[in-house]
Amino acid sequence: MRGLFITFEGVEGSGKSSQIVRLEARLRAEGIDVVCVREPGGEPMAERIRALLLDTASDLEARAELLLFLAARAQVVSRVVAPAVARGAVVLGDRHIDSSVAYQGWGRQQDVAAIRSLNAFAVGGVLPDRTLLLDLPPETGLARQMDRNRMEAEPAEFHVRVREGFLAEARQSPERFRVIDASGSPAEVEERIHSALRDLAPALGRATG
Ligand code: TYD
Repeated sequence: MRGLFITFEGVEGSGKSSQIVRLEARLRAEGIDVVCVREPGGEPMAERIRALLLDTASDLEARAELLLFLAARAQVVSRVVAPAVARGAVVLGDRHIDSSVAYQGWGRQQDVAAIRSLNAFAVGGVLPDRTLLLDLPPETGLARQMDRNRMEAEPAEFHVRVREGFLAEARQSPERFRVIDASGSPAEVEERIHSALRDLAPALGRATG
């Protein structure tokens, strides 16, 4: 019995992480087996790659950066996401394939088609059932952030391109994506997310832990 893989994407400070905590609690209260992973990271080796990627002291070529994000992804998908989905759990992913397209493709202006195929290679056939894009103007998101990692330290135009990249991916795959207005209170955004998952209720109901 296959579970579900739901990913969250968005610009810095779009509130993904706190919405994942809320959804996790909501699903657990219904007795659902939930696993949360963040990218880059979510597994010991992938967390080590994460440290390299986000350290402001790391001096990385754009292609090397892309391949490290993909290496971390290949690791967490094989070790955590695929086994959890196979046992029937609901996996909530804090960033996934679309972040590489938006940040390394649109932000760093690398070949988007190449990134899509590298993503496909990295995940080996494991694909999200639903992607929630928490959409917000980047200046609003960055204003919410306290500290700055290596990506967050990029100039405003970079983050504007990242947002455009996410919206373009959402237009490419409308059946997988739901674009959520991430402005307003956390409770309001939570309700929007709940509505965007309503059609998955039968599958969620089967994923009981
Ligand atoms: P994190 O602190 O987890 O940020 P957030 O809470 O916004 O997710 O840092 C992850 C950073 O890595 C974030 O700036 C986005 C970036 N990133 C990429 O550039 N490419 C990727 O493929 C992924 C997964 C993340």
